[in-house]
Amino acid sequence: MSNNDTFYITTPIYYPSDNLHIGHAYTTVAADTLARYHRFRGKDVWFLTGSDEHGQKIERKAKEMGMEPLAYVDKIVANFKHLWDSLHISYDDFIRTSEDRHKQVVQEIFTKIYNKGDIYKSTYEGLYCTPCETFWTDRQLEEKKCPDCDREVELLQEESYFFKMSKYQDRLLQYIEDNPDFIQPVSRRNEMVSFIKSGLDDLCVSRTTFDWGIPVPIENNHVIYVWFDALTNYISALGYGSGDPKYDKYWPCDVHLVGKDIVRFHTIIWPIILMAAEMELPKKVFGHGWLLLDQGKMSKSKGNVVDPLQLIDKYGVDAVRYFLLRDMPFGQDGYYSEEALAMRINTDLANDFGNLLSRTTAMINKFAQGVIPEPGAEEPLDTELKEVKAQAVAEFEDIMEKLELNNALAAVWKLINRSNKYIDETMPWALAKDEAKRDRLNTVLYNLAESLRIATVMITPFMPSLPEKVWQQLGIVEHTNAHNFNSIYQWGGLPVGVAINRGEPVFPRIDLAALREEASADKEEKQQQQDSKKKEKAKKKPEPPAEIGIDDFFKVQFKIAEVLECEKVPKADRLLKLTLDVAGEKKTVVSGIAEHYGPDEMVGKKVVWVANLKPAKLRGIESQGMILAASDDEGNLEVLSLKQDLPSGSLVK
Ligand code: ME8
Ligand code: MG
Repeated sequence: MSNNDTFYITTPIYYPSDNLHIGHAYTTVAADTLARYHRFRGKDVWFLTGSDEHGQKIERKAKEMGMEPLAYVDKIVANFKHLWDSLHISYDDFIRTSEDRHKQVVQEIFTKIYNKGDIYKSTYEGLYCTPCETFWTDRQLEEKKCPDCDREVELLQEESYFFKMSKYQDRLLQYIEDNPDFIQPVSRRNEMVSFIKSGLDDLCVSRTTFDWGIPVPIENNHVIYVWFDALTNYISALGYGSGDPKYDKYWPCDVHLVGKDIVRFHTIIWPIILMAAEMELPKKVFGHGWLLLDQGKMSKSKGNVVDPLQLIDKYGVDAVRYFLLRDMPFGQDGYYSEEALAMRINTDLANDFGNLLSRTTAMINKFAQGVIPEPGAEEPLDTELKEVKAQAVAEFEDIMEKLELNNALAAVWKLINRSNKYIDETMPWALAKDEAKRDRLNTVLYNLAESLRIATVMITPFMPSLPEKVWQQLGIVEHTNAHNFNSIYQWGGLPVGVAINRGEPVFPRIDLAALREEASADKEEKQQQQDSKKKEKAKKKPEPPAEIGIDDFFKVQFKIAEVLECEKVPKADRLLKLTLDVAGEKKTVVSGIAEHYGPDEMVGKKVVWVANLKPAKLRGIESQGMILAASDDEGNLEVLSLKQDLPSGSLVK
């Protein structure tokens, strides 16, 4: 049983199907900041991240690349670790689900639940989304598509093992009610409660349609359903069942930090697995919002993913971390743009923080011979500054417990901004003109440096490489007591008499105009690349097909069909759905001609229809055959149609 001195925090284990983007970086940076914060406060922290390596999607991807699944993921996992190093992620362990230590625990838990009778064998028929590795019920689908990723689902029937989730429904609801902090933020808790109340189905927890997974211990041709496998990482990494003291020390987990897309798995499936295996439930699952782009979600297929490594190269790790944590509103979706990042850097970091440091060190050099002066008597403005500090600290601590990272930073900035105002109010340059005000000047300079020190201590978990630079400039690298978290409660932790080293600005300003120019040049370049790709494609003539005999030709039946109705296929730019009349029979055909014909232009046309083509599903619509059209290298297209009025159903030979 973990106690209050320990803090166990996890990120999702990400799929190594592709490299990670800025959205994944957000979760991990947030978790890292919380881990650093609790370590800083003296807790015994365990911070876990990792990779979720099994499943059909990864098996397929590896095959496409002509690689073994493990060799394929090895490479991507190495990239994960490189990214985490570049972002200064201080994880204590990295779990890979392909590791033996993990497989053993998954099998053990599976067996335990099976022996208890909560896993049973049956036949499954269900709608499965391969990219999301999720079975959906009919009522969960949205317009017959996966509600998470909007892609086609497949109907699968197979013999499977089932997990009696339904049995635990009421216990789970009770747990959620008794532990109001379990699911955070509250909006997500409400969502989950109504989801559970609508009734839990038993969960299919094994598959036979692919091999890349952990075998079911009692029947090796089944592999364990990926979410059962993946969720167990949170205890396998602690060495559950192996006598490792970490399990007793850190479980139950303090926070599973996840994106809102996977809250359901963490607050329904995972707790029920733990209940069935008679283990304690995590204390908190926090589901944060999505980082979106102007064009909506980031995705590989849209080609709009933002690579955090490039941003780190350009702006530095602290600025990227700061932007993510400051800009994303607590628990809600946020928007990413490079301009928003640059604006944050300029306003909060270069202006507010950077100027405070730069003005303070410049004035200490000019008015105090470059040495932190001894403060004199306190005046009302000083008292006020100290009060603002005390409030900022109290607010900060309170907010950090609630995981509201953006608001915690806002609390620190209250102190920073108040300090900048304090310069304008006290006017040290005016005090310097009057030798009688030397004491007052010293007090002001000391307070400014002290305020900077305290703000820097508070920001340390958010921007881990910043403090070193500030300590360097304030001349207190060796004075480690002044870097401690506990040193923020008392005013006066900054040592007197040390020589400062004023240096370069810690956050250089970004030239926004240049950035905008660069962005529009980038856009143009991308457009040109796309255009030339299109041309290339058009130029490449396919090999003419091999000669065929007349018998082969007659295998295809062409008929005249009249277009009765025509409409656009929603969310598909190229597709029209046609309803054809063929000698009194209605046929539906989906055709990729929407860029060339409006629906109205098609109605009434008599077209050539391939009558005996096997039906195919396009965007969930069954297309029965196809209609003929001619096209040229430039992409011009014309549907073949009759000039003379022959009846529909006429044969074309
Ligand atoms: O779901 N904004 O892995 P995954 C914010 N393997 N966060 C984002 C994001 C975005 N645009 N995109 C991704 C899986 N994330 C499973 C997890 S855990 C037992 C198994 C983050 O690679 C967010 O935390 O698809 C989200 O939940 C996670 O990446 C999904 O990562
Ligand atoms: Mg996902």
